[in-house]
Amino acid sequence: MEKSPLVHNRLRWHSSLAKLTVWSFLFLGLILIFFFRSPSSNPLQQDPSRRSLRTYNWGGPAWEKRVRSSASVRSRNGISVLVTGAAGFVGTHVSTALKRRGDGVLGLDNFNDYYDPSLKRARQALLERSGVFIVEGDINDSALLRKILEVVAFSHVMHLAAQAGVRYAMENPSSYVHSNIAGLVSLLEVCKSANPQPAIVWASSSSVYGLNTKVPFSERDRTDHPASLYAATKKAGEEIAHTYNHIYGLSLTGLRFFTVYGPWGRPDMAYFFFTRDILKGKSIQIFEAANHGTVARDFTYIDDIVKGCLAALDTAEKSTGSGGKKKGPAQLRVYNLGNTSPVPVSGLVSILERLLKVNAKRDIMKLPRNGDVQFTHANISLAQRDLGYKPSTDLQTGLKKFVRWYLSYYSGGEKAAS
Ligand SMILES: NC(=O)c1ccc[n+]([C@@H]2O[C@H](COP(=O)([O-])OP(=O)(O)OC[C@H]3O[C@@H](n4cnc5c(N)ncnc54)[C@H](O)[C@@H]3O)[C@@H](O)[C@H]2O)c1
Repeated sequence: MEKSPLVHNRLRWHSSLAKLTVWSFLFLGLILIFFFRSPSSNPLQQDPSRRSLRTYNWGGPAWEKRVRSSASVRSRNGISVLVTGAAGFVGTHVSTALKRRGDGVLGLDNFNDYYDPSLKRARQALLERSGVFIVEGDINDSALLRKILEVVAFSHVMHLAAQAGVRYAMENPSSYVHSNIAGLVSLLEVCKSANPQPAIVWASSSSVYGLNTKVPFSERDRTDHPASLYAATKKAGEEIAHTYNHIYGLSLTGLRFFTVYGPWGRPDMAYFFFTRDILKGKSIQIFEAANHGTVARDFTYIDDIVKGCLAALDTAEKSTGSGGKKKGPAQLRVYNLGNTSPVPVSGLVSILERLLKVNAKRDIMKLPRNGDVQFTHANISLAQRDLGYKPSTDLQTGLKKFVRWYLSYYSGGEKAAS
C-alpha cells in the first residue's frame, strides 16, 4: 500500500529525531569523558611543571596590598627586588639578606615537588616572619608577571627560579625546558615590555663549562660542550639573555654558581643526602673517574654566594629600553661565583664523618655518564675586580653550619628526611 506524504514526512522526521538524539548522547558522552576522565590519564596533571600553571589564585585588593607591603623599600638607598625561586635554597637566603638591609623584596615560586615541598614551605614560613611575601605562581604565567610589575615598579629582578639538578633530566626532561627556557623567555618578555624595565641578575651555572679540561674555569673559556640537559638549558639561557640585552636594552648579569651548599640546602645534592644516609647507616656511592681519577667540586658556601648576588644587584646599571623599545646599549655581564678551592668528594665525606661522629659506608663507583662532570674549579678574578667578591668560608666551617642546621631541622623525627 502506498504511504501518504504526511505519513512519509512523519517517518522521516522520527528517524532524524532519533539520529539527532543518538548524536547528542554521543557528544554529551564525549564532553563528560573529557571532564571526568581519571587524573592519571590527564597529561596536564601528569606533568608537574604544567600542573603548576593551573592552580594558583592571585589578584584582588588584599593580595595587591600584601605585594606592595612586601616590596616596600625601608632603607634610604634601598632597591626593590622581585626574587623568583624565593622558596628555593638560594632564593630564601638572598631574600632574607635583602630584606635585612632594608630593601623591598617580593618572592615568586611555584612550589613544585622536584624535592620535598615541605622544605620549601618551611623556608616560606621563615621568610614570612621577616616580612617577605612569596606569590605562589609560575614564571610562565605572563599575566601574573605583568600584574606584579604593574603593582610594583621593581628596580631589579633576581631570577633564581629554575629546574636544578642534572640527573632528573632522565625522568622529566621537559621540566628543564619549561622552567629554564620557556620560563626565562616569559620573564624576559614581560620585563622588556615593562616601564620602567628592571635590571635583571640571573643564576646560570658552572655546568656550562661542561667537559672542559682547562682549569680553573674562566668566563672567557668555551662553553660549547655541555654534559647534561641541565647544562644545555643553562647555556641556552645565557644566549637568550644576551639576545634580550641586545634587542631590547635589558640590563643583564649572569652568575655562574659553583656547587652551593649550606643550611636550608637542597636534598638532591650530595652533601645533603650523604648526611642523611650516613646518619641512617646506609651506604653512600662515591664516584671516581677513569683510572681512579678524583672527582672534585669547588664547593661554595651559601653566604658567599649571597654576597656575590647582592653585589651584582648593587652594581647593575639601569636597563636602557622602555615599553619594549631599546634606547641604547645596556650592561651585559657574566661572573663565576665559586670558592676557588676544589675538594675531592671523598674529602667532603671525611669532613661529614668527623662532624656527624659516624663512619660512612663508602661504596666506590665509576662516574656514570649521566651529566656529572669530574672536576669544577672557578677562576673568580672578574667577580673579585667588579663585585668585590671574596669567598671567606672553607668547606669544614661551612659544613659545620650545615650539619648543625640539619640536625636541628630534622630532630624529633617529625620531619624525617625521606
Ligand atoms: N645550588 C647550587 O649548587 C646551584 C649551582 C649552580 C646553579 N644554580 C642555580 O641557582 C638557582 C637557584 O638554585 P637552588 O639551588 O636555590 O635551587 P632550588 O630548586 O632550591 O630553587 C629553585 C626554586 O625555583 C622554583 N621554581 C622552579 N621552576 C619554577 C617555575 N617555572 N616557576 C616558578 N618557580 C619555579 C622551585 O620551586 C624552587 O623553589 C637555579 O637557577 C639553579 O640552577 C644552583
